[in-house]
Amino acid sequence: MSIADDPDRAPARSHLYAMGWSEEDMRRPVVGIASTWTGTMPCNLTHRELAAHVAEGVRAAGGTPMEFNTIAVSDNLTMHTPGMRTSLVSREVIADSIELMGRAHGFDALVVIVGCDKTVPAGIMALARLDVPSVVLYSGTMMPGRWRGRDVTIQDMWEALGERAVGRLDQAELDDLARHACPGAGTCAAQYTANTMGGVADFLGLAPFGVGDIPAVAEEKNAAARRIGEIAMEALARDARPSRVLTEDALHNAIVSVAAMGGSTNAVLHLLAIAREAGLSLRIDEIGEVCRQVPIITGLKPSGGEHTALDLWRAGGTSLVVRRLLEAGLLRENVTLVDGRTLAEVAADAQETPGQQVVASVAEPFKPRGALAILRGSLAPDGCVLKLGGKDDFRHEGPAKVFDSEKDCYVAIQDGRIVPGDVIVLRYEGPAGGPGMQEMLSITGPLVGRGLGSSVALVTDGRFSGVSHGRVVGHVAPEAYHGGPIALVRDGDTIVIDSAAATIELVVPEEELELRRASWQRPEREVERGVLTKYMATVGSASDGAVTA
Ligand code: FES
Repeated sequence: MSIADDPDRAPARSHLYAMGWSEEDMRRPVVGIASTWTGTMPCNLTHRELAAHVAEGVRAAGGTPMEFNTIAVSDNLTMHTPGMRTSLVSREVIADSIELMGRAHGFDALVVIVGCDKTVPAGIMALARLDVPSVVLYSGTMMPGRWRGRDVTIQDMWEALGERAVGRLDQAELDDLARHACPGAGTCAAQYTANTMGGVADFLGLAPFGVGDIPAVAEEKNAAARRIGEIAMEALARDARPSRVLTEDALHNAIVSVAAMGGSTNAVLHLLAIAREAGLSLRIDEIGEVCRQVPIITGLKPSGGEHTALDLWRAGGTSLVVRRLLEAGLLRENVTLVDGRTLAEVAADAQETPGQQVVASVAEPFKPRGALAILRGSLAPDGCVLKLGGKDDFRHEGPAKVFDSEKDCYVAIQDGRIVPGDVIVLRYEGPAGGPGMQEMLSITGPLVGRGLGSSVALVTDGRFSGVSHGRVVGHVAPEAYHGGPIALVRDGDTIVIDSAAATIELVVPEEELELRRASWQRPEREVERGVLTKYMATVGSASDGAVTA
């Protein structure tokens, strides 16, 4: 019975009348529109406007929209501790917030508008929990900036820090780049975490192909948002719930998309978390197996080439990627897409721009090997993630230089104390130990900027920005805070990373490790009470997606 017709819900009616609802509004299906708008970042700055257009589409299709928004945290604005510790934590808070609103209001259908990195998996996790007919609207990429005659993104900004340290740029040039790198609203402008996860939403079937690709400030976005409102009503009519969309085959296709588009290592965490929320079994090694088989077919920064997300949209977008992957038999076609199309129809609808240089074929890819690899070994018995970034397989053997704080490591790099061959071990940065598993952006950017990106390895139980590249291994599990082997490493120990063998070994005799283990003590963390304390107490291993539920 609708609120309008239930005699006992008169108090609820009074609040709805207060918001301008009519009884007719109350009798229609109510579609929740969750945006992750905040005025604290460019990434999600368009969400309120998009939500208004989605609402129009819902109304036009016979529903009543109800808007709300959540928090969101940008890694670029919160790089300084403790800000960076909040980013992955925000994924859980956003998912919980949307779930709570869904349970509170009992929406008939939901649209979630997502953009910045964590907001995409968070929205999907919430939808999996609520399991009402749902659509994801990815708000879209930022345009690239222009500086000295070339396209630039936030990646150039981070690497410029290292270039300043070695004197290739001065402070005035760095500041000038900062004024030009990010020209307006939208998510970081190449295949970093947000755009990687936008693609995941498409390939999972929850977001209609062709909408997420449209840049945040492009004129076409608002009309696409209106259409999303209509699709939500269609999904309601077809009962297209996440439990029918988020299947093992859809998850497989999403992993393929991450590999084929040279996606961010953060996708590993998020895919594991989404699988868990959807009740699907996914082992971290399965992601590695797909990435071993699927080449990078898009020439996007930072792994496939020098193109930006804008270039991908102009070339034909993610639908064109679907066409290429289908031609090579790499996608599973028995999936449900929220707009009712099949993958074959998406591929047929793709508008390839003649002469485009951004999307290649699987037979002649940009890089023969995927974006990342999953390693195991004595240093990471439960697994870790190597950001291969489309590079050839490599073997790196070198002495450990151990840091228990990101700040000490940053100072060592900028002082020139890290030399080619070294293996930086940066620990106590895991989900519980950080807490919050912060990104090592302030480490990888300067390493690359100083020209050490391919001669120094970095191993951490923290994680990386989608912008990061170099010989970087993250998500080491078990993490140091829980006494994993990474906690036992000492300066000068030999570490061997072998990407072809998918191994990472700490070359120290077991008897010696036993002695170190016996004397190891978990360090005290200076965490104020509140959300980080709750997070530390509940978060699981990175190898399981670092979820709190
Ligand atoms: Fe928000 Fe990159 S920091 S998308």
